[in-house]
Amino acid sequence: MANELAGSSSRVVATEKRVLLGATVFIAVSLGLIAYATWGLGITVPTCLPPSKGFEQASITKHQGKNYEVHFVARMWGFEPTRVRVPTGSTLDIYVMSKDVQHGFQIAGTNINLMVVPGAIVNGSVHFDKPGNYLIVCHEYCGAAHQNMNAAIEVSDHVADISAEGLPETASAGKKILEDKGCLACHSLDGNAGIGPTLKGIWGKSVELTDGSRHALNEEFLREIILHPEKNVVKGYQPLMPALPLSDEEIKQIEEYLRELK
Ligand code: CUA
Repeated sequence: MANELAGSSSRVVATEKRVLLGATVFIAVSLGLIAYATWGLGITVPTCLPPSKGFEQASITKHQGKNYEVHFVARMWGFEPTRVRVPTGSTLDIYVMSKDVQHGFQIAGTNINLMVVPGAIVNGSVHFDKPGNYLIVCHEYCGAAHQNMNAAIEVSDHVADISAEGLPETASAGKKILEDKGCLACHSLDGNAGIGPTLKGIWGKSVELTDGSRHALNEEFLREIILHPEKNVVKGYQPLMPALPLSDEEIKQIEEYLRELK
């Protein structure tokens, strides 16, 4: 009886040893594979940063040499920017944030495969040593037009620096003045009728005033209208515009904006 007990307990010990050995080998192999993935294959675990203002707007930034930083914004159903062009040999630090739901961000043919979780900024780094058109796809189902959600990175020998399409329009100083001073309450920027004439395409045009005179909208006349609107009422409109005591600098910025507003 005693012998039998001793025999079975030594069998238990032998089994435990085998299990322990097996577990140790398994852990060692797992760690080895992680190390291989990290250093051997260059797969990086995406890092997550807390949300911060600098990432809420898509942007491109040049650092030293061919090092660039690109901030992508993901939203149903597209990315901003839509297309980034960089020279061959570039390294991109990529940051992605979502404006709405969870999206995916995978750059085909590279190690970048991120999960874009709302409320966080995900980050990865990628080096392009071959020219080509690298498709960016959203690989997380995010609604009806999920399959259309893509962008691209074009790596080319023929460009010297980074450029991008589909970045949000940075509001010009002139447009900001028009907004801040309340001009846009009466003057539209898109050609729609308003209390005052639309500003779209107005630069350089000949305008007829209620007194029958005609003036081309140039630097001088813009200044005249802004400072003395009561004397310069465009035909067909009411004399409602208040005089705006703007500085020369501000008028210049409005002029620059109007020139571009075609
Ligand atoms: Cu975004 Cu799918």
